[in-house]
Amino acid sequence: MSEDLAARTARGRADEPDGTGRNRAAGRDWPGELRLGRLVAPAPVVLAPMAGVTNAAYRLLCRSFGPGLFVSEMVTSRALLAGGERTERMLRQDPAERPRSAQLYGVDPATVAAAVRLVRERDLADHIDLNFGCPAPKVTRRGGGAALPWKLDLYRRIVGAAVAAAGQAPVTVKLRAGIDATRLTFLDAGLAAEQEGAAAVALHARTAAQHYSGKADWSLIAQLKREVKTIPVLGNGDVFEADDAVRLFRETGCDGVVVGRGCLGRPWLFQDLACAAQGSAERLRPALGFVIDVVRRHAALLVEHRGCEAAGLRELRGHMSWYLRGYPVGGEFRARAHLVGSLAELDELLALLDPAAPHPGPAAGGARGRAGAARRPALPDGWLETRTCDAAQLAALGAAELDVAGG
Ligand SMILES: Cc1cc2nc3c(=O)[nH]c(=O)nc-3n(C[C@H](O)[C@H](O)[C@H](O)COP(=O)(O)O)c2cc1C
Repeated sequence: MSEDLAARTARGRADEPDGTGRNRAAGRDWPGELRLGRLVAPAPVVLAPMAGVTNAAYRLLCRSFGPGLFVSEMVTSRALLAGGERTERMLRQDPAERPRSAQLYGVDPATVAAAVRLVRERDLADHIDLNFGCPAPKVTRRGGGAALPWKLDLYRRIVGAAVAAAGQAPVTVKLRAGIDATRLTFLDAGLAAEQEGAAAVALHARTAAQHYSGKADWSLIAQLKREVKTIPVLGNGDVFEADDAVRLFRETGCDGVVVGRGCLGRPWLFQDLACAAQGSAERLRPALGFVIDVVRRHAALLVEHRGCEAAGLRELRGHMSWYLRGYPVGGEFRARAHLVGSLAELDELLALLDPAAPHPGPAAGGARGRAGAARRPALPDGWLETRTCDAAQLAALGAAELDVAGG
């Protein structure tokens, strides 16, 4: 962190007036409104982009439980420009999805700008989120994902180019805290995004080195909120229950919450979040029958959106253990659930369960999804020596873009 930045970080509190009237004070339970440029979000709640999860079927399911923004799986700018059935499918939105949020990944300003233009010209989304948070070694090894904001000049140009290409559509950025604890990038990157015209900045408060280990450090979200004065700051990391969101808002003063793993197998978390927004303590603690109905709906949506029963059911498999977590269904049932190949087979299997089985309490909640150990981030040779990107590094980055998957 630069000295200047360190000094700015040290001073100020989230409850100081900022003169814009847009920053809220820490200590309030729930923000009133989340505005991304001209787009007013239905709620200050965002379904985090999750590769392999947040397809149209899952987004629709989550949306049916409560308001928010529901972000697509990430697609790379180059893959989008190259065309292709899989990429198109990943960005396809159901007519019932409004507003539509799409996440793009890119490492080259011109390519990102062209991808953003394509999204707008084909009317594929109302809001574009840029991914600068992926910690996967195969991405950071080339300088992409969470490694990219270290090269502040390149990062800034990508954000600026995307904003210019997006016209009236808001562009937001999604960041990690930095490369590791000694190389934090989120403040520089958050301020640069604000200066380049981004409509909001979301921070997953872990470094790339942390991967998904340990705990998200929400104090970094509070720091970012103190620094970024004119656009919303969204907090992300370890919101597994609606009450975690209440705490996040209260502790950081952030303007919106981004929820990822907490809704895996629990799309109804959006209902709990809507209750929390009203100040209600009511939370859904469903009996197994409710879960069974949601699994059926999820399966039907997946089949409809994949246009293929076998493919839809294959995708559902990954979700089954999340849905059934804590419920007394037995190991054999869980094993069979992973083999289901048709909607009829799924119905047959679910009919074996006792719909009256009550909610299992804490066993069904808590952390879920990716975890894993901290590890030293893989980076290109010499990456950390300067904060500017040389031609060789740029070329390596571009060449690797087609290998990227979300994270
Ligand atoms: C399966 C999975 C896939 C993910 N894919 C993406 C992605 O494509 N783009 C992205 O920006 N973040 C991705 N993430 C990170 C999440 O958006 C989110 O930042 C992270 O999970 C922390 O939030 P949480 O603690 O609420 O899960 C992914 C996370 C998971 C678990």
